[in-house]
Amino acid sequence: MSAASRARASEIADGPGHLLAMSDLGRSEIEELLSLTDTMVEVNSRPIPKVPALRGRTMVSLFYEDSTRTRLSFETAARRLSADTMSFSVSASSVNKGESVRDTVETIEAMGIDAIVVRHKSSGVPEQIARWSSAAVINAGDGWHQHPTQALLDSYTIRSHLGSLEGRHIAIVGDIKHSRVARSNIEAFTTLGAEVTLVAPPTLLPPSLEPWPVKVSHDLDAVLPSLDVCYLLRMQQERMTEALVPTLREYSSQFGLTEKRADRMAPGALIMHPGPMNRGVEIAGAVADRPNAVMTEQVANGVAVRMAVLFMLLGSGRYPMRGFPTEDAATADDPGPERARPEDADPATITEPATITDPATITQPTRNTAKDPR
Ligand code: NCD
Repeated sequence: MSAASRARASEIADGPGHLLAMSDLGRSEIEELLSLTDTMVEVNSRPIPKVPALRGRTMVSLFYEDSTRTRLSFETAARRLSADTMSFSVSASSVNKGESVRDTVETIEAMGIDAIVVRHKSSGVPEQIARWSSAAVINAGDGWHQHPTQALLDSYTIRSHLGSLEGRHIAIVGDIKHSRVARSNIEAFTTLGAEVTLVAPPTLLPPSLEPWPVKVSHDLDAVLPSLDVCYLLRMQQERMTEALVPTLREYSSQFGLTEKRADRMAPGALIMHPGPMNRGVEIAGAVADRPNAVMTEQVANGVAVRMAVLFMLLGSGRYPMRGFPTEDAATADDPGPERARPEDADPATITEPATITDPATITQPTRNTAKDPR
C-alpha cells in the first residue's frame, strides 16, 4: 500500500473498505483477490451460477460516463452473489436538473445501500464519494486516473494463461497518456513481478514517467518478438483536446497490431484489449479474432473478479463492515434457507452447490435494514 493510500485509509478508517486505486492493494492482497476469483470462476461454471453470499446487500451503480461492459459486469457480479442492484443512469436522473454529486450520493444512501460503484469523467470523484459515504465505494474508472477492477481482471486473465506474471514481458501499446487502464495495469503488472514496456509515440505518453518502473519504446516492431503479452489500448479521442497523431491511418501503420505484426509474436503470447476495440485502428479485425486474442475471456473474468471484490468488501470480515445481519435479527425476520447469515460470508460456503430459491422465501423480508447510525 502506498503512503497516499495509507493516509487515505486512516482518514476513512472507521468507514467500510473501498477499492479506489490499485495502490490500495499490496501484492499479497492482489494475490488473495485472484485466488478468490478462482472460486468465483467455479461458481460461474455451475448450471445455476448463483450463491447467497451477499443476500440482503444492495449495490448501486452510479455511472456518470458511458459504459456498457463495466456496468453490466458489476451488476451481473452482484446478482450472482444474490445482492440487490440499483442502477443510476445520469441521463434519466436529477443530475440533469442540476443536482450535485454530493446530493445524489446522499439521496441514494438514504435508500440504504452497501456499495456504490462509480464511474466519472473526472479523476478523484470516487475518492471524494468515499469521504462522504458510509457505503463501500468501488472505482469503476475515473478520468485518466484509475480503473482497478480492469487491472485485476487483466492480471487474472494473464495468470490463467501463463501461470504467473513474474518475469513476463508485457507491452502496453497506444494512448497511455489518457488511459486509466494503463495507469492501473502498470501498477498491477509490476507489483506482480512483470516487466512492462510502454510502446507509444511521444505525444501519447504522459509528460513524466518517473514514478513508474517501466521501459519505454517508440518501436512496436522491435519489441513484439520478446513479448508474453501485447496489451493494446483504444485511442481515447473523447479525452484529447488536440491532434496528437497526424492521422489514425498513420498511427495504425506504426502502432497498430496488423496481421503481419501479429505473425511475429512468440507462440503462446497473448493479445489483450480492455474494449471497446476500434478494429482497423489499434488492432486489425482478423487479429482480434485469433485464438491468442483473449478479449472475451477478459470480459468473462471481469464478472468473476468483480464478484471477488464485492465479496471482499461486503461479505467477509477482512474489511470493516457495517450492518451485517446478526444471527438474531436474521432469524426473527427470515427463516428461509437463503437468508443472509454470517456464515454466508465464509468463502468456504461458496463452494457449496447453489441453493435453488424456494419461492415461498422470496416474499419474506431478507434485508436487515438496521444500519450503523454513523
Ligand atoms: C476502458 C475504460 O472505460 O476505461 N474500457 C473499459 O472499462 N472496458 C477503456 C477505454 O474506454 O478505452
